[in-house]
Amino acid sequence: MTVLLAGGAGYIGSHTAIELLNAGYDVVVADNYSNSCPESINRVEKITGKSVKLYELDIKDTDKLEKVFEENNIDAVIHFAGLKAVGESVSKPVMYYRNNIDTTLSLLETMGRYNVKNIIFSSSATVYGEENPVPYVETMKRGVCTNPYGWTKAMMEQIFEDTARADAELAVILLRYFNPIGAHESGMIGEDPNGIPNNLMPYVSQVAIGKRECLTIFGNDYPTADGTCTRDYIHVTDLAVGHVRAVDYIIKNKCVEIFNLGTGVPYSVTEIVETFERVNGVKVNHVYGARREGDLAECYANADKAYEILGWKTERTLEDMCRDSWNWQKNNPDGYCK
Ligand code: NAD
Ligand code: UFG
Repeated sequence: MTVLLAGGAGYIGSHTAIELLNAGYDVVVADNYSNSCPESINRVEKITGKSVKLYELDIKDTDKLEKVFEENNIDAVIHFAGLKAVGESVSKPVMYYRNNIDTTLSLLETMGRYNVKNIIFSSSATVYGEENPVPYVETMKRGVCTNPYGWTKAMMEQIFEDTARADAELAVILLRYFNPIGAHESGMIGEDPNGIPNNLMPYVSQVAIGKRECLTIFGNDYPTADGTCTRDYIHVTDLAVGHVRAVDYIIKNKCVEIFNLGTGVPYSVTEIVETFERVNGVKVNHVYGARREGDLAECYANADKAYEILGWKTERTLEDMCRDSWNWQKNNPDGYCK
């Protein structure tokens, strides 16, 4: 069985490639390296001892994408290829809509031409919007998103649902990720952000190693136990295994399903910083600052459905997440390619 990972050289795609290869799937990766580099896949091959067929291309370019379907017998596609920086999406909305929506249309069109009927999509907890109460359950309606990035995810979910409604043979799984952090236990692959990290864990790691002076914790006056925001942090390897379960499932079942991929357990920003310091024996300089616009006080999953249907639940602890993030940062202080 062969799985095409669109955007597979990135953070979540590369971890998923390892778990798919370990589970016996063949993996083809197509990526334009707009936020990654081929070195991640070289390392996937080293870790697994297996080879990955790699294409450098823009998924929006249907002529080039056709070649991938022509040359490989693809059984399922996982669509990771997207731009994901929330702040950048506010200043460059057209770029986000163009890239994220067009990659989706391009994949669906090409799959249609080659009669490939299984697709899994990287969605996000952000589609629950501001109105729904936590914990989020898949049966809730999509909410009002707070930024263009979030809207691209909500729109793409709609596109997949409409396309599946029109084609009874098309199987779709929408995976709503919560907050992936951590890295492969080998320390050889991990998250490699460009420039100043937007997300908490890469910022924490870069402060710990001395690349950044100080972490600003955005707000300590939220209605949470310690006043800082809570999130459902999930180890990227657990998330990757969730994709393998989804592929196993979609190949056997003609389904249209949504699954939350989270632990169901929220942790605060302060808890993340304190756990990182304790587990790794390092100091993370931090100050409390103003709230960041658009942040919700709390965001966490009800993770029951993925367990009941896919038989998947997370196995790694917050300590594992902090240890593995640090291990990756220490071994690769400048990421893959810099
Ligand atoms: P990432 O940036 O590391 O990976 C995305 C990959 O897609 C990159 O390798 C990039 O080069 C590639 N790409 C982007 N546009 C492309 C195009 N037009 N053609 C070919 N390749 C293209 O991000 P990630 O953290 O691995 O996230 C993967 C997916 O999961 C994204 O769709 C993201 O929105 C979604 N997601 C991520 C998070 C998170 O916190 N990391 C949370 C929810 C959802
Ligand atoms: N935070 C800080 N300081 C920082 C960075 C983050 O205090 O320097 C805080 C944020 O305020 C938030 C928490 O750390 O409370 C987590 O922030 P991230 O930016 O790491 O993650 P978000 O929850 O904001 O966003 C993530 C993904 C989005 C996705 C969203 C919902 O980055 O892609 O989860 O799924 F849309």
